[in-house]
Amino acid sequence: MTRSVLTALTGAWEPDVVTALEATSGYAVARRCADLADLLATAAAGLGDLALVSAELRALDRPALHELAEHGLGVAGVVAPGDEAGERRLRQLGLAVVVRADVSAPELEDALDEAASGSLGAAADAAVDDPVADDPVDLTAGRPGRVLAVWGPTGAPGRSTVALNLAAELAAHAPTLLVDADTYGSSLAQALGLLDEAPGMTAACRAADQGGLDLLALARLAPEVSPGLRVLTGTPRPHRWTELRAPSVAQVLGIARQLATHVVVDCGFCVEDDEELSYDTLAPRRNAATLTALEEADDLVVVGAADPIGLQRLVRAVQDLATVPSPTPTVVVNKVRASAVGSRPERRIAEALGRFAGMDDLTYLPWDQATLDAAMFAGTTLVDHAPQSELRRALQSLATRWAGDTAGVSRRSRRAVRR
Ligand SMILES: Nc1ncnc2c1ncn2[C@@H]1O[C@H](COP(=O)(O)OP(=O)(O)OP(=O)(O)O)[C@@H](O)[C@H]1O
Ligand SMILES: [Mg+2]
Repeated sequence: MTRSVLTALTGAWEPDVVTALEATSGYAVARRCADLADLLATAAAGLGDLALVSAELRALDRPALHELAEHGLGVAGVVAPGDEAGERRLRQLGLAVVVRADVSAPELEDALDEAASGSLGAAADAAVDDPVADDPVDLTAGRPGRVLAVWGPTGAPGRSTVALNLAAELAAHAPTLLVDADTYGSSLAQALGLLDEAPGMTAACRAADQGGLDLLALARLAPEVSPGLRVLTGTPRPHRWTELRAPSVAQVLGIARQLATHVVVDCGFCVEDDEELSYDTLAPRRNAATLTALEEADDLVVVGAADPIGLQRLVRAVQDLATVPSPTPTVVVNKVRASAVGSRPERRIAEALGRFAGMDDLTYLPWDQATLDAAMFAGTTLVDHAPQSELRRALQSLATRWAGDTAGVSRRSRRAVRR
């Protein structure tokens, strides 16, 4: 059976590659595409089994390669002989198979066989392990860090407060990276007194899309704000959520694991998957950043507010999580105070959540707006600003669940996903 190859090659050597391709026994050129748009349209029409792309192809990025993979195409790269920069770029984009333009027909046949059998996902992982990326910053000595997602329902229950202060606690034990992945309302840059315009997550995802994200690039985008604590700030304007696509967010988190022992992700509240509402499965998804963080996470904290509405939302939120790929949650009830639920609030909350939702392992964080306001005003964390406060002590104790857990990725029990 002859397999169809779509080419999108920009170099003057394009005819040589096509000649080599025609000389193979298993492959034939189905279309010589003029540009990336032509290639994607032809792939969408189902006309190819494989694609050959060159490093200089305009607008070639990870979403485009992802799209080709979604259409079932294996992809191989072609570079001019000696073009190391081009080869490196293609590999960082996730291509495992890259050949030189003066390749012989048998070599090309082997390369195409390999591209046909490999998946882009596996190649993307290989790109993350790029040894070149390891030399500039190697804080974790090769052991991948763990991703801790902090999530919770709508109503500002305190996701960002918990994420920021947990990260500050963990940073005292091991290098920690705090990631703002809330595309509805990022807030960590402001909480830490950083410039609102800091490019952070948006720039990291763009670099990932373009194949330019490695450990050094991520370290540059995630400055150290206090000893051991780096921050990758959020997207400054909610309408820019389209720039945080699932494959790029996954790659950012993959490299983040190399940069830090603990990667704490502040997630947006919404976990609806609009992909299920649409026939266009390649369109950007509104909640891709949160859904990807939950899927990639090793550990998950769910934060709810300790008032009647907050508690009801918390119960629904934990139920909703059962339909989303995610780790088993640690449930945190925040803003605990008698004025909202009556005297002995922890006991009442434990009774209510235990009886109606079967939740028994709960962590409580007391109400302390004055201390949080003061820390926010100072642009810092409770570790620095109010180390003796009851709220800080509760967060410190919560952090011990993960603080000693630096043995790298060993995924904990993940609940089955109902779809
Ligand atoms: N334990 C607490 N006691 C009193 N106030 C709190 C507590 N935790 C958080 N808050 C306050 O609640 C407000 C919302 O907190 P935060 O920004 O952390 O919530 P969020 O869930 O991230 O909200 P958003 O939906 O805006 O992302 C802030 O003013 C914060 O200071
Ligand atoms: Mg927030």
